[in-house]
Amino acid sequence: MNINNREVEFNVNEIFPKRWSPRAMSGEDVSDENLKILFEAARWAPSSYNNQPWRFIYAKKGTEHWSKLFDLLAEPNQAWCKNAGVLVVTISRNNFEFNDKPTVTHTFDAGSAWMSLALQGSMKGLVVHGMEGFDKNKAKEVLEVPDNYSIEMMFAIGQLGKKEDLSEEMQKMELQSDRKKVSEIISEGKFVWK
Ligand SMILES: Cc1cc2nc3c(=O)[nH]c(=O)nc-3n(C[C@H](O)[C@H](O)[C@H](O)COP(=O)(O)O)c2cc1C
Repeated sequence: MNINNREVEFNVNEIFPKRWSPRAMSGEDVSDENLKILFEAARWAPSSYNNQPWRFIYAKKGTEHWSKLFDLLAEPNQAWCKNAGVLVVTISRNNFEFNDKPTVTHTFDAGSAWMSLALQGSMKGLVVHGMEGFDKNKAKEVLEVPDNYSIEMMFAIGQLGKKEDLSEEMQKMELQSDRKKVSEIISEGKFVWK
């Protein structure tokens, strides 16, 4: 079955193959209401001990905060993120709040929250595109993030734009990617991978 130019093996809900990471954004604003809805989706992610270690620092284009986040991005990401409506830095708390002991799953939990947000964004027709291409040390410094929090990843949120407005190189990358087969990522009862 083909959904969003992707060959789906099993009859999964279409929200999963429909979510993807375009780079073409129109430069239009993302409304405060939609932004809050996306963060609401993140809020409902599961986490170890329901500790909810995820935190999000965001900047909307046209505000005094925008350049602080935009300047963290690697140049190839800046090239298309200039048309985003919002940039976000995902952060996680390293220790449980109830006893301040280290949690080994804070990064994993923050990933769940990001995926919930990305799916909600996709369901609203928005672009939500994750990024590791940014300066983590600089993010820690300019955002004054203390040592008991980790910088995880950034993402851009925006309104879908036209592929033709991207550079030629990026137009070639503006495709829905494929995935490993289900049989390649599961194994009954034993470890089988290289
Ligand atoms: C944590 C994370 C970091 C990523 N870093 C970048 C990045 O720096 N630049 C970029 O253009 N895409 C980045 N991506 C997007 C991935 O390349 C993309 O999600 C992946 O190829 C799968 O494609 P899809 O999201 O369209 O299904 C990142 C995605 C995630 C989840």
